[in-house]
Amino acid sequence: MKILSEEWGKLPFAYHKTNYNVRCYFRNGKWGIVETSSSEQIVIHISATALHYGQTIFEGLKAFRGKDGKIRIFRWQNNWERMNLSARGILVPEVPREIFEEALRKVIALNEEYIPPYGTGASLYIRPLLVGTGAKLGVAPADEFLFTVFVSPVGPYFPTGFKCVDVKLVRDVDRAAPLGTGRYKIGGNYAASLASGAQAYADGFKMVLYLDAKEKKYLDECGPANFFGIKGNTYVTPDSSSILQSITNMSLRTLAEDIGMTVENRKVPVEELAEFEETGACGTAAVITPIKSIHDVEQNKIYTYPDKPGTQSVKLYSKLQAIQLGDENDKFGWVTEL
Ligand SMILES: Cc1ncc(COP(=O)(O)O)c(C=O)c1O
Repeated sequence: MKILSEEWGKLPFAYHKTNYNVRCYFRNGKWGIVETSSSEQIVIHISATALHYGQTIFEGLKAFRGKDGKIRIFRWQNNWERMNLSARGILVPEVPREIFEEALRKVIALNEEYIPPYGTGASLYIRPLLVGTGAKLGVAPADEFLFTVFVSPVGPYFPTGFKCVDVKLVRDVDRAAPLGTGRYKIGGNYAASLASGAQAYADGFKMVLYLDAKEKKYLDECGPANFFGIKGNTYVTPDSSSILQSITNMSLRTLAEDIGMTVENRKVPVEELAEFEETGACGTAAVITPIKSIHDVEQNKIYTYPDKPGTQSVKLYSKLQAIQLGDENDKFGWVTEL
């Protein structure tokens, strides 16, 4: 489905069919070669562990077309490392770095016509997926696995742009346990968050904010994004064993330090929400989603922030985007040019 030039700026954040995906199979104890496929389907055994026992890992990263026409991928090595952290966590074989890199380069090259032009606000979303395909009836890890990568051109996560959203603080559901799987990017964590996300949406909120599952005292994360707050010259972000280590958050912390801010990565008590001047959610999809209110419905409390993105959030957002697009010198070595 070719995209016409006037359509790039209107792309939703949604799956869009492209020409090819790539696949690599783990059989007989070893990874095979990276194959190309033009099919959107995968054939999977009815008793595959991905379907029954949650051996399902995914990643999400983006490629951007710069003003100079070059294609840049952002920090793919961190996605590779995080995918293998998840793999170790749920007994899936790790994917060698060369296979991960070859798959990325191949799938992007094969779908070059789907990389949105510079200046459209759109990018190429890359979705690596690593699943247990081998059959097991009893609870056990599979013997066979599929690593596949597909891409989709996407517009901004929120079509209204860099605008502040209202967030619901969730107290009646835990997304992940402190010693559970929250730090892995595996399907089960997302299944655990679907109902509370849908309820929050029905209640008029764009996002949720979870608390630590054990004490219900500290902030965890915002659905599929990490949380940060800014007070004065300090960038504060929760440290928790049950959150996904966001690559966007890691980058924002580095940028914050680079512009002279202090960074604190520690437990953040709920009440501290009252002390922040700016708050936001951060992740690959939207970079930063600034927050204008957090509703602690159960405790009958609302924390409010300015309804326009704060100066520090704007500064960090612009800097990160400029590096991703190649507009600013990549002094941290985050970008791979293809
Ligand atoms: C649960 C969760 N937290 C945080 C993030 C943000 O991580 P990243 O910045 O690596 O996209 C994501 C998205 O990947 C996520 O799914």
